[in-house]
Amino acid sequence: MSAMKTTPAIREVKHLLVTGGAGFIGSAFIRYLLNAPDFDGTIVNVDSLTYAGNLDNLTAIADDPRYTFVRGDISDQPLIESLCNTRKIDAIVHFAAESHVDRSINGPQSFLETNVMGTFHLLEVVRRQLHIHFHHVSTDEVYGALGKTGYFTENTPYHPNSPYSASKAASDHLVNAYHHTYGISTTLSNCSNNYGPFQFPEKLIPLMLLNCIKSKPLPVYGQGNQIRDWLYVDDHAEAIWMILNCGRNGSTYNIGGGAERENLALISQMIGILAEVQGVPADTFKELITFVKDRPGHDYRYAIDYSKIKGELGWSPRHSFAQGLRKTVVWYLDHPQWVERIESGVYGMAIHTR
Ligand SMILES: NC(=O)c1ccc[n+]([C@@H]2O[C@H](COP(=O)([O-])OP(=O)(O)OC[C@H]3O[C@@H](n4cnc5c(N)ncnc54)[C@H](O)[C@@H]3O)[C@@H](O)[C@H]2O)c1
Repeated sequence: MSAMKTTPAIREVKHLLVTGGAGFIGSAFIRYLLNAPDFDGTIVNVDSLTYAGNLDNLTAIADDPRYTFVRGDISDQPLIESLCNTRKIDAIVHFAAESHVDRSINGPQSFLETNVMGTFHLLEVVRRQLHIHFHHVSTDEVYGALGKTGYFTENTPYHPNSPYSASKAASDHLVNAYHHTYGISTTLSNCSNNYGPFQFPEKLIPLMLLNCIKSKPLPVYGQGNQIRDWLYVDDHAEAIWMILNCGRNGSTYNIGGGAERENLALISQMIGILAEVQGVPADTFKELITFVKDRPGHDYRYAIDYSKIKGELGWSPRHSFAQGLRKTVVWYLDHPQWVERIESGVYGMAIHTR
């Protein structure tokens, strides 16, 4: 358990079923836990390996005897139920989702199927196995958009604006409804934008970084003045582990990085780090910035008040944005093969099934 934890554990979570563990945050969580000195349980990772699922993210821990990968869909109730029984699962940590807003605008259906119905199917399994705790990983986007001031708290009313955030909002409501109606043990976390190693290159930071490296245009929506609050992915993993152990049953926790940036300022900061690391002038990359038509319904600003998790569980982000961004830039520069395998389409399901 994290050295930061200040509250005693209120539940024993030893044998975990993680959904979507081949994705960006789920794989960070699995790597984090298997490297944590105080984790002495097991993890079964159920992932259907959509385009976003990448077993290369788990190479470092794939042979750990405490870890098993199962290719499967979260909507497959018999599979999930059988794994819960055979593996003596005491907690499900639910990451699996369709997660990219632009894709939800172009094709919302899979977002409803996975994010809403997939969550429903998992909850149905837990309803029949009430000893299992259910942690639901969600997003700050369910709260809608802020103006120039203010923060999202756990009491901010839901106001999702994209098919992605609407589907996540629906899944959050289902989790809370199952807690109240059927008495299942739940916790829920709403987190701000994550960044870090192993993030699929369609998301802002890896997209811009890799385009810089290839001297390709950097497409910036509108004027680039949208504001997001950024959290280094390992800090998110730690927060989830603390909530799992110590979070109050039925409670929601906001998780944020305390690092608000306008998109354009973020890109400039990243360019500055990349230029410094590579020893080239930043202007080479700045010239690549290209403003493109804004995303429809683009939310202006998200910002998280994380005082509840800080006060109750003693969590706060360990990485400043400058530290996390530098680690991320260096990681992508050091892992061209990870990127190449994605670009050539050979990533995903080729390895580590056992
Ligand atoms: N990325 C962020 O900045 C961010 C911020 C806050 C919350 N979240 C939430 O965190 C979770 C993980 O996000 P991410 O960025 O790691 O996503 P991701 O897109 O990188 O990974 C999603 C994973 O889920 C798997 N998956 C999709 N549909 C599935 C299904 N039907 N059955 C089994 N597996 C399936 C995919 O194969 C993939 O491995 C999501 O629930 C997302 O809403 C993400």
